[in-house]
Amino acid sequence: MNILILGGGGREHSLAWAVQQNPKCDRLIVAPGNAGIAGIAECADLDIEDGGAVAVFASENAVDFVIVGPEAPLTAGVADRLRDAGILVFGPSAAAAQLEGSKHFTKEICAAVGAPTAAYGHFNDAEAAKAYIRAQGAPIVVKADGLAAGKGVIVAMDEATALAAVDDMFAGEFGEAGAEVVIEAFLQGEEASFFVLCDGETALPIGSAQDHKAVGEGDTGPNTGGMGAYSPAPVMNPEVTDKALSQIVAPCLAEMARRGMAFQGVLFVGLMIEDDQPSLIEFNVRFGDPECQVLMMRLGAQILDLMHAAAEGRLSETRVNWGNDHAMSVVLAAQGYPGYYDKGSVINSLDTLAETSMEMCFHAGTSKVNGQTVATGGRVLNATARGSTLAEARARAYAMAETIEWPEGFYRSDIGWRALK
Ligand code: AMP
Ligand code: GLY
Repeated sequence: MNILILGGGGREHSLAWAVQQNPKCDRLIVAPGNAGIAGIAECADLDIEDGGAVAVFASENAVDFVIVGPEAPLTAGVADRLRDAGILVFGPSAAAAQLEGSKHFTKEICAAVGAPTAAYGHFNDAEAAKAYIRAQGAPIVVKADGLAAGKGVIVAMDEATALAAVDDMFAGEFGEAGAEVVIEAFLQGEEASFFVLCDGETALPIGSAQDHKAVGEGDTGPNTGGMGAYSPAPVMNPEVTDKALSQIVAPCLAEMARRGMAFQGVLFVGLMIEDDQPSLIEFNVRFGDPECQVLMMRLGAQILDLMHAAAEGRLSETRVNWGNDHAMSVVLAAQGYPGYYDKGSVINSLDTLAETSMEMCFHAGTSKVNGQTVATGGRVLNATARGSTLAEARARAYAMAETIEWPEGFYRSDIGWRALK
């Protein structure tokens, strides 16, 4: 099978790493890829949000199967263009990608089926939004409706912060994404991410993870795309998993199918869990980054068969082979991230790292310049390892992170603290 993966972050490096271990993979192309991906696959320069261009590229290169990594091509309809061209693709239609692209849309789906989620109001003018906040009181959560690269959410512990967030959003701080806002009740509890493959009908759980969104030790400081993750998340015990599937995932997927927008791809279910009761915080329509890295470490080559089955509507015939293992990924980011950071610093000693089924350094923002690996993004590397316990995975991941010579980078030293405390 000739396979094309769209994306160029740590998520896509881990997907490429798992996929190319599967003997069914003949040729693997990743667009645009990065310096790490270039070591295991062909990289292609392609505008991955241009569905027409991706379809032409796929045809010209005899691609049998396309795997879409990030959300932007999905909400832009790239999966639809590929299907129109008769190319098999893993990833939802633009209509189904509204589950991530519009918070209001997701709230409506939840309301239609009674799925547990925070009570909310939806507004397109600031005064009505503020009146709602005054009536509800703080703490309260203000969200830009559309895609805002993970930044359009303000968890306001007091009313003044919430009111100011509304003004910022309507003043255009998050662009088009903030032209509508969702305001919702503050949920208490512990967060977890739950990943489910879907073929439009069948839902197949493939694991859980916990991310660390804040940049600083002890979950302090501004939010990032994610500074580290581990899998499984202990809070996702069998009871919580059953409830998440029966109360949230299954009814929402059935409602999507009923509306003629059956969801195919991976559903990233962001949950808040209190007293073993999960509530939906959000859906994403793609793997998390860095959550994907820990899932791929654990699942390995079988993920290709599972994604292929999802794309062909054969998930009911599959099963997941689980080991009793744990994985952790530590993100190395450029100093200054998530604020301003310099690009172009050189990273050394990467070639001394082991690359095995137990430990891999996945690349995110890297490229090769004159034979050297240089940092080109905010999140740059993911030191990822597996172990029979989380403590073992942690020790391996941090040993790897310490070996990497990159003075311009930093990482959190406490990934996994909740599970290891
Ligand atoms: P989201 O982009 O919707 O995942 O929100 C970003 C983060 O804000 C989440 O990971 C939570 O930590 C927090 N958050 C979002 N909604 C709520 C809520 N209703 N109650 C408490 N925290 C929330
Ligand atoms: N790590 C969070 C996300 O991918 O949305």
